Amino acid sequence: MLIYHDKHSTVKFSEIDDITNVLNQNNTFIIADDLLTKLYPEIFLRLKPFIITSLENNKSLDNYSSCINQMLDIGIERNVNVIGIGGGIVCDFAGFIASTYKRGTQLTLIPTTLLAQVDASIGGKNGLNCIPYKNVIGCFKIPDKTLICTDFLKTLTNKQIYEGIAEVLKIAIIYDINLFNYLSKLSFDEILKQDTIKKLINTSINSKIKIVNQDFYDSGFRNILNFGHTFAHAIEIEHNLSHGDAVAIGIMTSVNISKKLNIVDPQDYNKITKLLETLKLSSDFKADPSIVSAVLENDKKINNGKIREILIEGIGKHKFYNFEVDEYIRLINDLY
Ligand SMILES: NC(=O)c1ccc[n+]([C@@H]2O[C@H](COP(=O)([O-])OP(=O)(O)OC[C@H]3O[C@@H](n4cnc5c(N)ncnc54)[C@H](O)[C@@H]3O)[C@@H](O)[C@H]2O)c1
Repeated sequence: MLIYHDKHSTVKFSEIDDITNVLNQNNTFIIADDLLTKLYPEIFLRLKPFIITSLENNKSLDNYSSCINQMLDIGIERNVNVIGIGGGIVCDFAGFIASTYKRGTQLTLIPTTLLAQVDASIGGKNGLNCIPYKNVIGCFKIPDKTLICTDFLKTLTNKQIYEGIAEVLKIAIIYDINLFNYLSKLSFDEILKQDTIKKLINTSINSKIKIVNQDFYDSGFRNILNFGHTFAHAIEIEHNLSHGDAVAIGIMTSVNISKKLNIVDPQDYNKITKLLETLKLSSDFKADPSIVSAVLENDKKINNGKIREILIEGIGKHKFYNFEVDEYIRLINDLY
């Protein structure tokens, strides 16, 4: 079933058999998540992918060089189709390889975590880390094809599913009030049903693409997709959190800053905090302020010494706010 199509890219739901066929086509170079090759050995039979153990440390320039060297050693030509199959780490990495190898190849992404299906494989942003700084090396390249197979989600833990839901919630709060209202009607368990997950994936992808199509190179409006991510990126690596957990905490932080500055509608604030609780995405996380300030000072969203934070006036109503770094850190210290 088609999710989205235009002259640059196609996003569709696919079955495992379709995925196996795509992986076995001629002229491909496959980059695969290590765990996935062990969980689904049958789809990798006779294939020799470049394997990534999905840790943020491995979304690195060292790994990038190894991969490029392997491609050169086996004589991969520019007309290859690079296929990334795995979570967001593999999608970001494969996208970076495909956009730079011999100045650009075809790219197919097969995201296998919910987070990657709703977010990381969509919109054409690719990033490598320079630890502890996340995604500070990056480029833009829309995948020619993104194939979403919800069967892969069966081997994720419920916690990993909810990490993906954090990115769905981000889109819902910042942009899509209908999606927010739909999410609000679901119980914790209902979300895990196939039909519900498919609807959430379809809706989030289409909302994200609508945002991206207005500002592909992220020079203005697309920044709203960073909602919750300033703080998330400041805590994710140093506090050893998954990306989804960090995003959920980041969303809560941005919503609480919006409340502290009296800019969010109180009823909407209550609806959002209630939904975070229902989805078990609220937490009693305690940040270490010294770590947060050290990472924030190198955040790529800082311009002229100011942090551009995305706050909310209500559900679906964002507000850009420029903070002096010191002022932002003071606010964070007050909240944590
Ligand atoms: N480019 C973008 O627009 C964008 C958007 C959001 C996130 N991201 C990036 O995505 C990354 C996070 O993605 P993620 O949460 O998918 O993390 P991940 O890629 O680390 O995957 C999480 C874990 O799930 C495992 N896994 C993958 N597929 C599985 C499956 N089907 N069954 C069982 N286990 C499976 C992986 O081995 C890993 O241990 C971060 O690096 C983040 O910066 C990028």
